[in-house]
Amino acid sequence: MLVVSETKALRAQIKQWQRDGETIAFVPTMGNLHRGHLTLMQEAKKRGTKVVASIFVNPMQFNNKNDLANYPRTLEEDQVKLIAEGVDMLFTPTPEIMYPKGLEAQTFVEVPVLSNILCGASRPGHFRGVATIVAKLFNLVTPDIACFGTKDYQQLRVIKLMVKDLSFDIDIVGVETVREESGLAKSSRNGYLTEQELEVAPLLYKTMQDIAKAVQGGECIELAVAHGIESLNQSELTTDYIRIQNAKDLSGVNDSDKDLVILAAAHLGEARLIDNMVFRR
Ligand code: PAJ
Repeated sequence: MLVVSETKALRAQIKQWQRDGETIAFVPTMGNLHRGHLTLMQEAKKRGTKVVASIFVNPMQFNNKNDLANYPRTLEEDQVKLIAEGVDMLFTPTPEIMYPKGLEAQTFVEVPVLSNILCGASRPGHFRGVATIVAKLFNLVTPDIACFGTKDYQQLRVIKLMVKDLSFDIDIVGVETVREESGLAKSSRNGYLTEQELEVAPLLYKTMQDIAKAVQGGECIELAVAHGIESLNQSELTTDYIRIQNAKDLSGVNDSDKDLVILAAAHLGEARLIDNMVFRR
């Protein structure tokens, strides 16, 4: 596996592969790789002839300095995992390479409306940071395909909309959420949970399943969600939000909408957990 941190070396290798007629599949990450990330690598491998991954803990998408400072960085272990998945090239830039003038002076990409609801409302500027870094990475890697997890459902919708609005010629592939046996969605942030909290955390997914079942059984959305929040708040989880939206564009649900998504975020100890579940009614 080639490991590069300079943009010049990255671009030269990509150009060579493109001249050779290779199809490039790209998986951007912030590292601390778990089975969820590795599933994205496997999907990329199926869809492209060369797989490029990136590891960059993007300061622009963190609105809390401690969160950024404490984000787990495990580059050596990550490299071993990527080699085992047959990844062809890993891009590991520094903040100075990606933002040479600093964050304040950086041109940014803002995807309107979608960026300001749900996680965007709790984390102002977060999706601006995500859209900006993903646009920069897309311009550097120029992939044919890029894989993202549906675990970060709102992020996936933001990126799909950015790609459409800015005419990136990239096929965005959404990959299903990989879970622990308990149902808890795999996340780098699960490492912040104590053993006892790890027993409580699966309640988030269980509650979403209960809400979906209730709505499918004919209960009104507001009531089903209120019951869900009530049962979550009886545990150590503190609900940030639970919402049911139109699965396609995250707009409010109309009576005629059939494809829905439950989106949830909750705090547990040091971690902020997010999860979602698409369902039909
Ligand atoms: P990160 O949290 O490292 O996630 C990288 C990719 O892995 C994202 O597409 C995310 O949705 C996916 N992923 C995370 N957990 C998953 C799981 N349990 N199952 C399946 N896929 C999972 O998301 C980011 O990084 C950043 O915002 C990034 C897009 C790299 C921009 O900085």
